[in-house]
Amino acid sequence: MQIPSTIRVEQSGDFAAVHALHDAAFDHNPAISALVCDLRTLDAPFPVISLVAVDDSDTPKGHVMLTHAWLDAWDRMIDVMVLSPLGVHPDAQGQGIGTDLIDAALRDADKLAVPIVFLEGNNKYYGPRGFKPAVTLNIRRPSLRMPDMAFQMKPLSAYTPDMTGSFVYRDVHWTHGVGLYR
Ligand SMILES: CC(C)(COP(=O)(O)OP(=O)(O)OC[C@H]1O[C@@H](n2cnc3c(N)ncnc32)[C@H](O)[C@@H]1OP(=O)(O)O)[C@@H](O)C(=O)NCCC(=O)NCCS
Repeated sequence: MQIPSTIRVEQSGDFAAVHALHDAAFDHNPAISALVCDLRTLDAPFPVISLVAVDDSDTPKGHVMLTHAWLDAWDRMIDVMVLSPLGVHPDAQGQGIGTDLIDAALRDADKLAVPIVFLEGNNKYYGPRGFKPAVTLNIRRPSLRMPDMAFQMKPLSAYTPDMTGSFVYRDVHWTHGVGLYR
């Protein structure tokens, strides 16, 4: 059944539903909700972007987060953002909600003059949504154990081609989000 959805900023009253939808989307992996919890209070140069897609009764069916990370470039550390996690409740998948959340989050990041949004994921999904493997723009992935195709980036308006170097996750991602590569 098609679920009508609206995208808005996540509120504290959404927290339980957001955790529940990630639990359902990520096969009850508790690391995702734990990551979301810690990311909400991340101290960073950019505010956390946390958006929900809600149904007609204002219940979150999808959630996306963009949070701070660094690009360790040849002459400076550049503040960037990473898209993680993105989850859509299994009942609502395949209806464009994930795509709409990505688009809305990228628009918000562009307004903050974030130069690049990175993510780790399947290029078959993210490629048609504007992401390309970071290696193609001379940016190194955060771990040699992460496949090149999985580590992707979306340059925004503030991007310039001299932004090359190594992507650096905040500690919270290493703790919860990228355990496979630890
Ligand atoms: C991946 C996810 C966020 C997509 O959200 P969604 O609202 O279902 O996606 P959309 O409706 O915008 O897009 C649907 C398309 O994405 C494709 N797709 C969904 N998950 C995919 C995946 N893991 N890899 C490749 N393609 C995928 C679907 O086949 C569909 O393709 P089509 O448009 O050619 O039919 C959602 O399926 C989800 O939460 N999955 C489990 C959690 C997860 O893996 N999240 C992280 C992604 S790296």
